[in-house]
Amino acid sequence: MEKTLSIIKPDAVANNVIGKIIDRFESNGLRVAAMRKIQLTKKDAAKFYEVHKERPFFNDLVEYMTSGPVVVMVLEGENAVLKNRELMGATDPKKAAPGTIRADFAESIEANAVHGSDSLENAQKEIRFFFAEREIL
Ligand code: CMP
Repeated sequence: MEKTLSIIKPDAVANNVIGKIIDRFESNGLRVAAMRKIQLTKKDAAKFYEVHKERPFFNDLVEYMTSGPVVVMVLEGENAVLKNRELMGATDPKKAAPGTIRADFAESIEANAVHGSDSLENAQKEIRFFFAEREIL
């Protein structure tokens, strides 16, 4: 059993598809172990995406991730990190495989509907960033 962090990003929250996205996870063997709807501050978003701080898209990414509420979740299941990434599809929705969350719900490489941890190590860090142990059930 693994745990991974998922974020439903501002575009998908604004498009009112939170339930449709969670259904993709639940229908494919992942379970919501923790969940919260929040408005990130600039400081939160900059810290969360610290690894990308030298990338040219960093400022736009922080702006975008603070442009509206997001839903943060801990997903649990067998091979949860990889399974979540398969369900999300490629970062750029134009390259995402048909039937993936990004192919079906994302607007652009930035407004790409969901975030998912890219490794077990990062999943642990990202889960700790948002959730206390007692909130993960
Ligand atoms: P995410 O999985 O949340 O991790 C970093 C995010 O940066 C990524 O999804 C994209 O939404 C965003 N981003 C914006 N522009 C780019 C780009 N050119 N290449 C990669 N990621 C980008």
